[in-house]
Amino acid sequence: MKIRLDKYLADMGKGTRSEVKKAISKGLVRVNNVIVKKPETKLDTDSDHVLFDGVLVGYAQHEYYMLNKPAGVISATEDKREKTVIDLIIEKKRKDLFPVGRLDRDTEGLLLISNDGELAHRLLSPSKHVDKVYYAKIAGKVTEEDKKVFAEGVDIGEDKLTLPAKLHILKSGEESEITLTIREGKFHQVKRMFHAVGKEVVYLKRLRMGSLVLDENLKTGEYRALTDEERRTLTGENE
Ligand code: URA
Repeated sequence: MKIRLDKYLADMGKGTRSEVKKAISKGLVRVNNVIVKKPETKLDTDSDHVLFDGVLVGYAQHEYYMLNKPAGVISATEDKREKTVIDLIIEKKRKDLFPVGRLDRDTEGLLLISNDGELAHRLLSPSKHVDKVYYAKIAGKVTEEDKKVFAEGVDIGEDKLTLPAKLHILKSGEESEITLTIREGKFHQVKRMFHAVGKEVVYLKRLRMGSLVLDENLKTGEYRALTDEERRTLTGENE
């Protein structure tokens, strides 16, 4: 891809457009080892080497991270008071990352962080019916009857019932453990589905979204870049 030098540097978080222009005119930027002083210089993002103050920059058009979201952070890009999931991604190059979908503040688990709008649309558009798998602890005894109700669709106070969802009971007792697969992403959906059958979610963690499975090696709060294979499968490049 061909882009201007000042955009290249600003995209990679080296400062605002005017800050990087200043750095360029000061002679702090080298392209293929030659000092370049014109911000409008066109670069090839694949083949040109850019040094900013002596440090190799490297261009990423899209970035993809898998975060094991901890409780207590919000699924937003920035917030004056609260810590956001984007604040947790320390090594990001791009400054236009966003969470692909939302998890509640108290929900843990798989959250994709990217700046790929097309992929976000593909995963989040209601018409696409992408599977989301959650693990939950439930106050109350989850029963075979709940399984049936969830399979038929639950009235959570919307115009329509929820789409059929697959409930798997791992443990049934005073506190139950389940996995639930849903194909929508309505606000507080899992909590509202259990509430509708008279039970409350006390712990919620997302395990999977579409083809993307939470890496068990990621502790809560940790993240890693997607592998090429994960990215290709998710974006449909493998289709
Ligand atoms: N359903 C919920 O109730 N909360 C989440 O964070 C995700 C799904």
